[in-house]
Amino acid sequence: MQIEKLYPECKDYLWGGTKLKENYGKETDKTPCAESWELSFHKDGPTKLSDGRTLAEAATESDLGEHVKDFSFFPVLIKFIDAKQDLSVQVHPSDEYALNNENSFGKTEMWYIVEAEQGAGIYLGFRESVTKEEYEKAIAEKRLTDLFNFYEVKAGECYFIPSGTIHAIGKGCLICEIQQNSNLTYRVYDYGRKDANGNERELHVEKALRVTNLEKFERTALGGDLLGVSKYFNVRKISVKNETFSTNEKTFAAVCCVKGEGEIDGQRISVGDSYFIPANYGKYTLKGEMEIIMTEIRKYYIGIDLGGTFIKGGIIDDEGNIIVNDKVPTESDGGSEVVVRNIASLCNSLLKKANMTANDVEGIGMGVPGMIDSERGEVIYSNNLGWEDFSISKELEALVGLPVRIANDANVAALGETKFGCGKDYNNTVMLTLGTGVGGGIIINGKLFEGNRSAGAELGHAVIVAGGEQCTCGRRGCLETYASATALIRDTKRAMLADKNSKMWEIGDIEKVNGKTPFDYYDVDESARKVVDNYIEMLGTGIANIANMFRPEAVILGGGVCKQGDALIKPVQAVLDRDIYAGTKGPQVKVVTAMLENDAGIMGAAALWM
Ligand code: BGC
Repeated sequence: MQIEKLYPECKDYLWGGTKLKENYGKETDKTPCAESWELSFHKDGPTKLSDGRTLAEAATESDLGEHVKDFSFFPVLIKFIDAKQDLSVQVHPSDEYALNNENSFGKTEMWYIVEAEQGAGIYLGFRESVTKEEYEKAIAEKRLTDLFNFYEVKAGECYFIPSGTIHAIGKGCLICEIQQNSNLTYRVYDYGRKDANGNERELHVEKALRVTNLEKFERTALGGDLLGVSKYFNVRKISVKNETFSTNEKTFAAVCCVKGEGEIDGQRISVGDSYFIPANYGKYTLKGEMEIIMTEIRKYYIGIDLGGTFIKGGIIDDEGNIIVNDKVPTESDGGSEVVVRNIASLCNSLLKKANMTANDVEGIGMGVPGMIDSERGEVIYSNNLGWEDFSISKELEALVGLPVRIANDANVAALGETKFGCGKDYNNTVMLTLGTGVGGGIIINGKLFEGNRSAGAELGHAVIVAGGEQCTCGRRGCLETYASATALIRDTKRAMLADKNSKMWEIGDIEKVNGKTPFDYYDVDESARKVVDNYIEMLGTGIANIANMFRPEAVILGGGVCKQGDALIKPVQAVLDRDIYAGTKGPQVKVVTAMLENDAGIMGAAALWM
């Protein structure tokens, strides 16, 4: 299939206007023209192609893409809506309710405001949480809208409406609506209006009561060009001048032009037009001055990087884009139960931030420090968390309601960096994560090498000073006891205590020392300089040992210490070049920082599902 212009089915609902015909190129006999169903596989209004076939007839499975196969029917419906009058107050049920009671999917939707008259607005959600009784009373007294948020809208804004959220489009709004492919609506209130025969439209108050979310509504927005995500649609707004995009085997793309005009791979596109780009089409170009709404189907995963100090997490799509991310303290002193609860609440707050539910996400991937039994989802032993034989996956699954996959944190970071970061540049790499501990991940010929039963690559526990500093693993002198952030902080504190005149005391409290402190004072304080030089010598020595064993193309450093950039990398490279076997005669091993910086862990964790 080629890129196809879409010919929508138009609807003449009474509340509609004429703008879609006048200004958005809709050719229809219907007046008014309330809605145009731009991308629709729905029997109530299927979209057609220029040859008269419906899109549903013309598109093969591979045109739609792999992700569509996961749904029993086409997941998304896109419309333009021109509201000349107020639409009724309504609510859509969740999938769970709709599947159990209506033999249909529920409906989550979103509105992109294409155009709005002065003062036009929408009702969306409750201003404050209400009880069922208050809700019923307000319906009976015909003052329900007093309880809602009223948003005066402007062109370019976007509103996400999770199923269960009470809402109404007000007069004067012209909207591009992207919704789950369902026609299930419960009308709650119609302002007491009557039709030509003096009849009020049917209301579905009882059902609406069962599905309405009565909590205070909080509007959330995603960052960048992302407008809204759910299992059923991934929607971006893109301002186009001259750009190349592409589709792969996973998903088709639908492009709706909401401003301006131009060309899509040579075909003319102007405001109000929509095009279908089949999956696997490959590259296509958008030229001109326009704004488009791009809708695709993506999969999402929660990636968690469990560290000794912080738990980092993110929701990541199957192309490696971070939708939202955040971090919370690990609180490992509280024991495993507290840590698992913290992970679960991070997962839930990420879902909330992205306006998603567990239903939108495929699973949770997590990097955990220590020896991990990935098959059983258990931590066999973790020196830095003080855990043994802990079924972490089972506990987390019970709390979040999503399946969990785990692996060693540094192996996971190496996987993330290979898949989404420097993997394009190198085939053989070793990753060292410099955090609470020092983790290791080995990539051989583009593949993660984890050793027997994935228990391998504990590179931080290679001894570099026999009889040296005590390690939490029981041995002395491990690389971790000199090159971790913990070690750097310990040595900085020791240096300050030994030198009361050190400029580093300017920070005030010694407990404020972090991995940055000695680097900040490197040029002005002898004690700080010694700490950093020693750190670099130790890290460089450890890296030279690893380089002699594997001779990778690069050693990738991850963890917060890497924020020091060249101040860290250049001198470490010098130690390595000095010490590596055969010196500069052999192929150079490059020391680089993780391209994904601190996100390698969460991206790799999500990649456990990809
Ligand atoms: C643990 C490793 C872990 C590393 C980084 C070390 O102390 O033994 O399993 O990968 O810290 O967190």
